[in-house]
Amino acid sequence: MSILVVGGAGYIGSHTVDWLIDNNYEVVVVDNLSTGHQKAINQKAKFYEGDLRDREFLNNVFQSENIDGVIHFAAFSIVPESMKSPLKYYDNNVYGMNVLLEVMHENNVDKIVFSSTAATFGEAKHIPITETDEQIPTNPYGETKLAMEKMMHWADLAYGIKFVALRYFNVGGAKPTGEIGEDHHPETHLIPIVLEVARGQRDKLTIFGDDYDTKDGTNVRDYVHVMDLAEAHRLAFEYLQSGNESNNFNLGSSTGFSNLEIVEAVKEVTGKDVPLEIGDRRPGDPSTLIADSTKAKTVLNWQPQYDSISKIIEDAWNWETTHPNGYEDK
Ligand code: UFG
Repeated sequence: MSILVVGGAGYIGSHTVDWLIDNNYEVVVVDNLSTGHQKAINQKAKFYEGDLRDREFLNNVFQSENIDGVIHFAAFSIVPESMKSPLKYYDNNVYGMNVLLEVMHENNVDKIVFSSTAATFGEAKHIPITETDEQIPTNPYGETKLAMEKMMHWADLAYGIKFVALRYFNVGGAKPTGEIGEDHHPETHLIPIVLEVARGQRDKLTIFGDDYDTKDGTNVRDYVHVMDLAEAHRLAFEYLQSGNESNNFNLGSSTGFSNLEIVEAVKEVTGKDVPLEIGDRRPGDPSTLIADSTKAKTVLNWQPQYDSISKIIEDAWNWETTHPNGYEDK
């Protein structure tokens, strides 16, 4: 039996595929390579190139493989892009989930682990954020992921498809060996951008706003290492395989770092200077996002191994410096 990883050529997807293979699972990957990289996929995985929304293609994968369950990463995930092109997000994310659940139902596959997000919560009422907190997204990206969570809920009631939604906070780092890492075009995420400035590939960093109600006025985020996320997906899959009910989990480190603190941490790890300027607020950004991950630790027995901002930056820096042009360098 195989695990089907949809979106397995992306940043978090490829680390999860690699981790599953290291843990002796058989893995089938589906990816349309719109943002992912074929070189990121562990060669022991079987790869089908195609789009989730292509029902015939997807059905063919399910018919050809012996699929036990699905891990779903294939969604657009850039907050500012979603503000500019909301319908692109509804089409790929929500319609993609629609087709996937239908094809799973038709093929009697009843387990799905889903890559959800802190962005489903929006502006937090209190910190840290627990699973039962109100979900009121502040951007279309978060709205589509919330819609996808709800689709799985109703598909569970109607068809018995069990799900785990993993709501990650901000993800960083890379496989410590440096073989795979984060490679987005264009890059919009804070840590890789700060590292590009440290490396001299960009002149300076623009911090989006310093007038938020936080310790230093810049946004506060909770960073989790991509390898710890990969393990959380494995544990969530095992949880479903053991016959447990559908569930949601927040995944973070329970520690918040302001954007300026991330710059300081990068300077410390790399020994490089990071020139910066303060710009306008970025539309759609909530002020503070910090996870309460107690439930994942208790129910899934999730035990993060790389729970430090310096380790996250160190591994991301290792990838950046050995792959200055991302997968083009491989
Ligand atoms: N930021 C800057 N300058 C930049 C880039 C980012 O100041 O050049 C700031 C952002 O305004 C924000 C923080 O850095 O305050 C983090 O921004 P990212 O773009 O790295 O990450 P987001 O918080 O917007 O979103 C990420 C993921 C989402 C996920 C979310 C949950 O992209 O998928 O974290 O917190 F939902």
